[in-house]
Formats: sequence, structure tokens, C-alpha cells
Amino acid sequence: MPASITLDYSLAMQAGLGSPAGLTDAELQAQLEPTARAVSSVLSRADAGELGFFALPSDSKALAAVDALIAALPSGLTDVLVLGIGGSSLGTRAVLDALRAPVIAGRPLAQGPAIHLPDNSDPFLLSHLLETLAPASTLAIVISKSGGTVETAAQMLIVREWLEKALGADAARQRIVAVTDPKEGSLRALATEQRWATLPIPANVGGRFCALTGVGLLPARLAGLDAAALLSGAAEMAARCRAPRVEDNPAALIALLSFLHDRERGHSIHVMMPYADRLRAFAAWYVQLWAESLGKRLDRAGHTVECGPTPLPAIGATDQHAQVQLFMEGPRDKLVTFIGVRSIDRNLTIPNSSGANSYLGGKTLAQLLEAERLGTTEALAADGRPSLTLVLERLDAAALGGLLFLYEAATAFSGELYGINAFDQPGVELGKKLAFGLLGRSGFEAAAEQVRSAQRNRPSRHKA
Ligand code: PA5
Repeated sequence: MPASITLDYSLAMQAGLGSPAGLTDAELQAQLEPTARAVSSVLSRADAGELGFFALPSDSKALAAVDALIAALPSGLTDVLVLGIGGSSLGTRAVLDALRAPVIAGRPLAQGPAIHLPDNSDPFLLSHLLETLAPASTLAIVISKSGGTVETAAQMLIVREWLEKALGADAARQRIVAVTDPKEGSLRALATEQRWATLPIPANVGGRFCALTGVGLLPARLAGLDAAALLSGAAEMAARCRAPRVEDNPAALIALLSFLHDRERGHSIHVMMPYADRLRAFAAWYVQLWAESLGKRLDRAGHTVECGPTPLPAIGATDQHAQVQLFMEGPRDKLVTFIGVRSIDRNLTIPNSSGANSYLGGKTLAQLLEAERLGTTEALAADGRPSLTLVLERLDAAALGGLLFLYEAATAFSGELYGINAFDQPGVELGKKLAFGLLGRSGFEAAAEQVRSAQRNRPSRHKA
């Protein structure tokens, strides 16, 4: 592991956990060879240019393109609207939330423009933003790999009209940037027609693997974050994730341990529980990556497998007062990954006091958080409930880049172990088609009829 991130998996093993819920050394040994093959298969595809995410950390041109684009933007930007959804927003949010000072009651503590991510069709946030922001000092970044995502297209049309009405077409044009496929898709075509500034998402990088392209780098740079360190941390991790020996390859270990706990122990719920507020959005990013990549009906031979662990986000210590009761006493179907941060840059010391709280005097909130993480880990272990622990030496841009890459690689390796395609998402198509039908989109008439007929024929007595 890079010096700044360490993985402890002793509590995923029977010897460390002291319970058959942990894996035996023999089980692990038996899977080392298939896991090494999974790593080698992913690396071959990466090196052949098929899986582009592996090369992103060492792509210095991407950052230069981001800087050139920023240099040509209008000056005095106070706000940025990031219009994207799924992989086109979750990675960006993970980066910004981890590395930027928080916004407190509308007062941003960070330097640079405020960055807003209204990543839903729910009009609530976007309508408030458009009522509040000044068009002249707002930049819209439209992000879509496919270029055809309906939620993003709808928001783009609304924001473009808002800018054009206030500023006229030319000034609006200078305030819209598109981040999309280099050649394909309707967003690329529109950006070319409208002469918007653009950044490419490489054709061989899928939506949920694109945090380290312009998708995450542009908002990060606009926010004044160290995007170069984000990439260098990811590059260091990418080198570790190339290790052919599974025991030396952190992503391969995470993939293997998660797979075996799911398959051999029924630990099919994979909890991601950072003890760091700043990693809340990272946990949400992980949920999408794990769920959309590994939840599949068919394996690569076309057999029905309906596989995939269920990722669950939790946050320490907050969830000790919410979900931990379930983790401790509920079904034995979970593998928890704890993330701790050893050295933190902001801390508070608890004052001395008499009475019940006197033991806290002189301790820091960081010490309290750390004790709570260790306490919860050991409490689960004492009841034979397995976990992995990642410790970050500090939570900076390099560590976050490493963490993002670690889970991208672990997801790719896991896909090989499950024998599925981790890079598609066919299961989201039907719902989209039915919604298009309901919106009257040409070519989707049969979909509209499918919904209407299903609703007509459904017994109505089940409505309250
Ligand atoms: O991982 C994926 O491909 C998806 O989650 C996409 O990121 C999401 O659907 C948004 O797609 P797009 O970036 O094409 O607008």
C-alpha cells in the first residue's frame, strides 16, 4: 500500500476474528491464483487501451487542458453549477467534500467560487439556485459521458435559457462548458454547434470510472484544490494495484476478501464506514461504483447469475447512533470496511470539567473519534462480525486520489471474480425507456402503452 494508506484485513480472517465467520488461510490460498488471473486480465485490457481508467492518473495532458480552459473563462465567477448525475457527479462531490472547507449556513469558508451539484430532476435545489445566483458570475459545467442522459439534458436546457435570457446568447456561451465523449453523443454535437468550451472524457473510460478526468479535475481546479496531488496519489496507488502477487496488491485483496465473504459466508452487504465527515460523499461514490458495476443478472457467458453485493454507506461516529445496532445484533450478512484518518489537520480539545465528563478533559475530538472507531471495530469482532480497516495517514488530495483509484481497481478485479461485466449497466435501461414513453418521446410509444396497460390491469384494492 502507499505509505499513506494501509489495509488491515486481520478481522476478515478466522485467525484474527476468532470465529468461523472469518475466512481460513486455506480458503484465501485457494483463491490466490484465480485472483492473480483476474488482475492480469484487467491489466491486459487496461494496457490494450480498453479500460482507460488505469491510465488516467499518469495523463498529464488532462490537467493541462483543464488549466487552459480555466484561463479562458470569464473573470469574477462566484458560482459553478455542475450539471451531471451518477458517475458524472458523485466523484466530483467526493473530491470537493473531502478537500474543501465546508459551507456554513450559506457562508462558504473556502476560497474560489461556490460549487453546486443539483444532481437530480427534483426541481427544489435547482429552482432555488436559479432564483439566487447571478447569471453573469455563474459558470455551468454540463457533464455527460454518453451525452444523452435525460436528467442532465433537461437541466442544461433550463440553465442555458436562464443564462441567455439574462445575458444574451454570446455571454451565455462563454459561461457553459461541456465535459463529454471526445466525439460521440448529442452533448458533443450541441457543444460543437454552440461553440461551448469542452473537455473530453476519454472514450475508453466509463461514467463511474471518470472521477479522475476533467469531470473531477475541472471542478477541483476551480475550487483551488491540488488536482495534481489527486492524480499523483492515484498514480502511486495504480502502481501498487499492478502488483502480480495478490498479497502485495491492495485492490486485489479487497476484491478477493469481499468476494469470498459474499460467496462463502453470506456476507453480501458491504458497509463502507469512514470515520470522517469529509468522506461521506466518498461512501456515496463507492455505493454507485460497487452497485452498478457488480449487480448483474448475467455472467459473461450469458448465464443468469443475479449476483452482486449490496453496498451500504455509514458514517462514524454518527451511525453508531443509527445503524450500528443493526450491524451488532442484526443478521450476520455484513462485511464492514472502516476508514480511519490518523493525523487530522483541524482538531478541538475538550476542556476539563468535574463530574461525569471529567475523563474527557484534555482529550481531543480526534482522539474521541479514533476511540469510537476502534471500539466499534472490536465490539463487532467480539461478536464474530468481520471487518476490513483502511487507515489514511492524513486526508489530503493525494490520499483521496489513492482511495478513489483503489476502489476503481478493486471493482474491476471483483468483476472478474464474479465473472460479470463490471463496466455496463443494462439494468437501468427499462426504467428509462418507460419514462421516455410517459414523456411522449417519439419511438417509445410501446413503452408508454406498457406502463398504461400494467397500471390498468393492476388490482386497485391495494391502494390506501
Ligand atoms: O457509470 C455510469 O455509466 C453511469 O452511472 C453514468 O455515470 C450515469 O448514468 C450518467 O451518465 P452520463 O455521464 O452518460 O450522463
